[in-house]
Amino acid sequence: SAAEKGGHDYFMLKEIAEQPQAVADTLLGRLTEAGDIVLDEVRLTDQDLRDVDKVFIVACGTSYHAGMVAKYAIEHWTRLPCEVELASEFRYRDPVLDRSTLIIAISQSGETMDTLMAIRHAKEQKARVLAICNANGSTIPRESDAVLYTHAGPEIAVASTKAFLTQLAACYLVGLHLAHVRGIKYADEVAAVVAQLQAMPGKVEQVLETMEPVRELARQIADSRSVLFIGRHVGFPVALEGALKLKELAYMHAEGFAAGELKHGPIALIDKGTPVVCVVPSPAGRGVMHDKVVSNIQEVRARGARTIVIAEEGDVAVEPYADHLIRVPRTPTVLAPLVTVVPLQVLACEIAAARGNDVDQPRNLAKSVTVE
Ligand code: G6P
Repeated sequence: SAAEKGGHDYFMLKEIAEQPQAVADTLLGRLTEAGDIVLDEVRLTDQDLRDVDKVFIVACGTSYHAGMVAKYAIEHWTRLPCEVELASEFRYRDPVLDRSTLIIAISQSGETMDTLMAIRHAKEQKARVLAICNANGSTIPRESDAVLYTHAGPEIAVASTKAFLTQLAACYLVGLHLAHVRGIKYADEVAAVVAQLQAMPGKVEQVLETMEPVRELARQIADSRSVLFIGRHVGFPVALEGALKLKELAYMHAEGFAAGELKHGPIALIDKGTPVVCVVPSPAGRGVMHDKVVSNIQEVRARGARTIVIAEEGDVAVEPYADHLIRVPRTPTVLAPLVTVVPLQVLACEIAAARGNDVDQPRNLAKSVTVE
């Protein structure tokens, strides 16, 4: 009913709107002044975490994209090698695991069979398992050594939105915790990130307030044959997530690419009018990366693409090449996915609605995949 949807047309729109609160709830009470974090269930000591020499993140679907973002944060803050892998591929490859390997399993439902099988395999090899999970008491957290629950609340729409943002928040907390326990190398930076993280719910809210042009754009491109998404660094998993949302909801051909790979194939797909969503890194921090993506936008536009540019406030360099410009608030590079993914969620939802699809129950998909 409309009441259940909080006045929104779909659960997905309600859940998109709930994201600032969900992220705030996930951070609430978890960060101490010292930059330490409080996990929910920890059967791992600080010494266990100091002994870790390698991290593997395993997940499926949207949760896998959260894991891809986490890899950038964890490696940067902790200097631990970190791999991220689709849970369905992980154990069949016979990964090298031992008691100093930390597995981070990310799952909204806590019941995804491939992710569960991946952690069981890892535990047989004596690896430690930390779960990031939304459903309290579900199987994956029950079988893990430590758990950090996301506080997204129940997610009804099949396509994940608020669970994804809270997974990102939880991954940042885990990265900061590992950095803290292991002796922080970038102490100043990590302290600054803690403060910046607290400011993110407000920034997500700001993005939500400016979504009307995105809805209009959705109606304009709803009949496209194909939509491409490009990004670099943490913008790459955001591009993958934008494409996944569009496939799931709009049943359109959509692909996400690392912007640097364009010349190695994807640029051949660009035809006159092909929408290309470009996730632009902050010009601050790693400025080189920003300039490279701006060049990529020019390249695709020169080949006829209709460019939809997601860029920070104040980034004037993108303006000449953006057919549609979507602004997001300034954030530190690693935290940017919390804001840059939001317009992509809204875009996919509105395109699906414009095409007459069932937004909350897309065809052929299930909320939780409990078979391999
Ligand atoms: C299904 C859902 C996705 C979800 C994925 C992983 O495909 O439709 O939204 O990202 O499963 O689910 P999990 O519960 O493990 O995060």
